[in-house]
Amino acid sequence: MDRIRIVGGPTLEGTIKISGAKNAALPLMIASLLTPETLTLENVPALADVNMLLRILGHHGVDYSVDGRRTGEDPHASRAIHLTARSIVDIMAPYDLVSKMRASFWVVAPLLARMGEARVSLPGGCAIGTRPVDLLLMVLEKLGASVEIEAGYVHARAPKGLKGAEITFPKITVGGTHTALMAACLAEGHTLITNAAREPEIVDLADCLTKMGAKIKGAGQSIIEIEGVARLGGASHRVLPDRIEAGTYAIAVAMAGGNVLLEGAEAHLLQNALDTIERAGAGISVTNEGIRIKRNGAGIEAVDVTTAPFPGFPTDLQAQFMALMTKAKGSSVITETIFENRFMHVQELARLGARIRLDGDSAIVEGVSTLQGAPVMATDLRASVSLVIAALAAEGETMVNRVYHLDRGFEHLEEKLGRCGAIIERITNAA
Ligand code: UD1
Repeated sequence: MDRIRIVGGPTLEGTIKISGAKNAALPLMIASLLTPETLTLENVPALADVNMLLRILGHHGVDYSVDGRRTGEDPHASRAIHLTARSIVDIMAPYDLVSKMRASFWVVAPLLARMGEARVSLPGGCAIGTRPVDLLLMVLEKLGASVEIEAGYVHARAPKGLKGAEITFPKITVGGTHTALMAACLAEGHTLITNAAREPEIVDLADCLTKMGAKIKGAGQSIIEIEGVARLGGASHRVLPDRIEAGTYAIAVAMAGGNVLLEGAEAHLLQNALDTIERAGAGISVTNEGIRIKRNGAGIEAVDVTTAPFPGFPTDLQAQFMALMTKAKGSSVITETIFENRFMHVQELARLGARIRLDGDSAIVEGVSTLQGAPVMATDLRASVSLVIAALAAEGETMVNRVYHLDRGFEHLEEKLGRCGAIIERITNAA
């Protein structure tokens, strides 16, 4: 299993190109199941989760090709993927594929909408709390499907097609909103979604579905209206930049110090996080090319943070921000409101010398002046990168084990940081 070795100390200077968003690319790829025509997605990040989803889509009958890269082209340029689901050859998504990545469960919506039936294994993914799918199943039932759970599989049926409905989410859910969008655009009649997630990735999916012929109003707001259409066609769409990747590198610069341009990052996608990072002592300026982040000399200020659905502070940056707070002057309280059990990075950060106490859904972080490198274990996607951030500012060497979690969500992490002066290397096939 690969490991990443980091020697802390150097500041970060240079440019980091922000990749396409994983959390937009995945639902966009799944939307290809809705049409027999070709969906072309540009700016798709090269990530383990994307490759896994290609395998899953291939299993359902999607033909895909990934644009080849010519010699001399930037090896870090993200890819274009062409996906064509001319016919769906299997409405079943098996356990061994779905269990590896939670988002793959979302295939249930287009399969059901297009084929009238889907059998999809209950999902897996990062171990951050129970992460149920009850609200996704509620969506399918509201739209007229019968849903049964049989031997670990969700069996959804709507032999006469789905019917538009009123869907009110009791809790904001990104996956639930993606599911409702994809299923309702091929349902007969009008669907009204209330308390929808407002994340930029929802807007990106809705934009792409609209290019495919869907009739959607209000994506990005709490109320979304959809008028069902009989069929959707092909389209070409560019995946929006990854706001979590941008926020992660912004926090890394705030932690290590330095001056980095996050090329292609869009500030409006992560304004809350940028404001928070600025309060912690970093300088942020928005340019035509992206976001510039600096911290020179000044110490890190303690800032309290509570995660919330968009436009609040994202739960996917909580672990990274906690890493930054481990070296702040004073104590901060970090409260996680989206997922239970999303504090697995705490004990690993403690190995580096961080002082963190858990109290229910809050972590009280008492800043220390020095962290010390140590062997640590990556436990989930965002937790893993928080260890990398802490290691950049720790004295000596940190070895991050189990980095496959990082490969699920961060494209070329060690090259991107290495080019800015970090001492970071991947050690492949370590025992
Ligand atoms: C997505 C993101 C993930 C991010 C999360 C919250 C992708 C691929 N993943 O995950 O990175 O951390 O949004 O921003 O885009 N819930 C239920 N019942 C359900 C569904 C969800 O109770 O049927 C709960 C969850 O347990 C959680 C909350 O709703 O407490 C929000 O989860 P949700 O927004 O659905 O997260 P995901 O879509 O899985």
